[in-house]
Amino acid sequence: MKGLQVAIDGPASAGKSTVAKLVAKRFGYVYCDTGAMYRSVTLAALQKGINVEDQAAVTKVAQAIQITFKPGEPEQRVFIDGQEVTEAIRSNEVNANVSVVAAVPAVRKEMVAQQRKIAEAGGIVMDGRDVGTTVLPDAEVKIFLVASAYERARRRFEENKQKGIATTTLAELQAAIERRDKLDSEREVSPLTQAEDAIRLDSTHLSIEEVVDEISAIIKKVE
Ligand code: C5P
Repeated sequence: MKGLQVAIDGPASAGKSTVAKLVAKRFGYVYCDTGAMYRSVTLAALQKGINVEDQAAVTKVAQAIQITFKPGEPEQRVFIDGQEVTEAIRSNEVNANVSVVAAVPAVRKEMVAQQRKIAEAGGIVMDGRDVGTTVLPDAEVKIFLVASAYERARRRFEENKQKGIATTTLAELQAAIERRDKLDSEREVSPLTQAEDAIRLDSTHLSIEEVVDEISAIIKKVE
């Protein structure tokens, strides 16, 4: 049977990637992290010394680089033109600039075209901000995953501590997350919004396992 298209959208640090990866594994589907693609464009631009406000220059970068994924634990590995950037795309500098890059219409056009190609054959779990609304409007399963800003910051804080990443305070992390949510929700092209036919899941009081189980049950019903 042909696999489904599963779209998981939501605000920053709601646990989309963790959950999407586990759901993909459970169903033998491909996992695609669209945020990693916008992060890769941002990193490549910063490395070239480009001002992220320079839309034409950032667009050229998006069109020129080749972003590829390889399975990996605990994270999927990401490459720009064959160079591994899995960790580099999660830096504070990329966090601070990615929403500006992701708001450039021509950058989005390029990324969306690549994402649709990846999802073409079905059997895909794709996570991001606009997957259910724009990238895959016909996806059979659409989830909008949310959690309170405090809980999202708390989880990220604990994760950074475990990974040994030098981090800011919990309050600063929460402020950065809220800033990114605001930019993502208020941009003109494909803002972060729940698709009309998406199922909203609030993970504030749920474990990763519980979220994965809920989404899996939804997929099984449709399959
Ligand atoms: O999901 P993640 O936090 O890694 O995404 C990083 C940023 O990329 C988001 O804050 C958003 O600005 C952008 N993004 C987007 N559309 C997507 C995925 C991510 O605009 N589909």
